[in-house]
Amino acid sequence: MSQPWWRSAVFYQVYVRSFADSNDDGVGDLPGITSRLGYLKELGVDALWLTPFYPSPQKDHGYDVADYFGVEPAYGTLADFDGLVARAHELRLKVLVDVVPNHTSDQHEWFKAALSSPDSPFRDRYHFADSKPDGSPPNNWTSSFGGPAWSREPGGDGWYLHLFAPEQPDLNWWNPEVPTEFERILKFWLDRGADGFRIDVASALFKRQDLADRPVIHDPVYGAPRLDSAFAIVDQPQLHDVYRGWRRLANGYEPDRVLVGEIFEPRRHAKYILPDQLHMAFALIHQPWDAALWRRSIEANRGALQGPGTEPTWTLANHDVVRPVTRLAGGAVGRARARAALLLLLGLPGQVFLYQGEELGLEEVNLPDSARQDPIFFRSEGRQAGRDGCRVPMPWHRGRPHAGFSTADPWLPVPVGWDSLAVDAQAGNGESMLSHFRRALAARKRLGAGLSDRLEWSRSAEGVLAYTRGRLAVACNFRSRPAKLEANGVLGLASDPLVSLRSGVLSLPPNSAAWLMRRR
Ligand code: NOJ
Repeated sequence: MSQPWWRSAVFYQVYVRSFADSNDDGVGDLPGITSRLGYLKELGVDALWLTPFYPSPQKDHGYDVADYFGVEPAYGTLADFDGLVARAHELRLKVLVDVVPNHTSDQHEWFKAALSSPDSPFRDRYHFADSKPDGSPPNNWTSSFGGPAWSREPGGDGWYLHLFAPEQPDLNWWNPEVPTEFERILKFWLDRGADGFRIDVASALFKRQDLADRPVIHDPVYGAPRLDSAFAIVDQPQLHDVYRGWRRLANGYEPDRVLVGEIFEPRRHAKYILPDQLHMAFALIHQPWDAALWRRSIEANRGALQGPGTEPTWTLANHDVVRPVTRLAGGAVGRARARAALLLLLGLPGQVFLYQGEELGLEEVNLPDSARQDPIFFRSEGRQAGRDGCRVPMPWHRGRPHAGFSTADPWLPVPVGWDSLAVDAQAGNGESMLSHFRRALAARKRLGAGLSDRLEWSRSAEGVLAYTRGRLAVACNFRSRPAKLEANGVLGLASDPLVSLRSGVLSLPPNSAAWLMRRR
């Protein structure tokens, strides 16, 4: 039986604001993406995930949605979305839309209506509550962006809940109007040709109904009082019915439409990635460069999933985390490790999500405070740098202003040194990161469905991970000194030109990896 298109697919996350700017206003847009679909096809990915492009005041760069049925004018029009999808489909690329169901913008019509009168029926679509008797917020929950999760209602005595910025009021999923509206939203985009959704904050939609305080516990090691993070304020059982409904809706379309939850913890994957709920969630490997920790993370993610044919969706990066090259030590060492990590991950059974610029080996940018835009930076009063450093626009052309992203100043400055990382600077160089990604994705495609999902770890020296999947053998040297392994087969791919296979001995320089094709 043939596999559904998304099994083993490689997805590419497009951060719309920073990918490609068609009208030189310093901000990426949908026609810009359309103009670069050929680049993505040549890279070898199967599908795109577009970050939110809805009309939005951009307080959290699109994750504050003012209208779920439109396109932010700075990013284009609905016709531009249709054009993007049509061209992508011609190229046999799938397109996922980002749906943001946990919260709206404070500029959404519903929230504005809720604030308009104390009797507004729209109030029940959000969480409004009164102060505690001492005048403090309704409970002690905190916002993921820092500070309390409650803000004073403008012009009123009460408070409203926001697990993120105050401009992102949380929806009340216990009100049936909310789930009904989201089915309408999903259907709207599916009918326009979307191939599925990435679901923002996917485990949080329903909050515990009693809005109870998180208990204060004593840290078992230091004894200091702290809030009990194990106390469940989200993950309510009713959410599973919502996803069952979404899956039924998706199943009404041919070929498969997919649901990818923004859920990272393996223990949660077990509850949501099920044949009647979500297709995928993210297995984000963020461990330090250590063979044992990576193996443990791979095993934890694989072990969490139930049912035959269900494999993790591996990823190293997204628009919320420090770029992998930087995380893995930065500079030449970070790049070597990122090249090796790609081979390690692409060899595993399952799907893969890449984040734009990963294929260029972009590093986290240390922006000046004056350029920062992330609400995390502002809400933490500068104590946390925030996520702007991984969202800097893509460098396309060396020798052009802002590395060819735009002739206008981009919304975040492109570092001068990025000229040498630009797509056209890397494309013709067989040793570049971009060429490495292209080769690796092409090799994975060639192996294709012929590979079994059965993974066996091979015995290897400390600091080296090696596994086989049918005729594919993968080895990765995490050490800072060379490693040798006995191996048979032919060398299919190497992350480093110094990898060699002679007389059945594979030599791996520090921070390198290889794919071997074993003889049948
Ligand atoms: C997760 C998104 O990836 C992140 O960028 C956003 O700030 C929060 N959800 C809130 O929507």
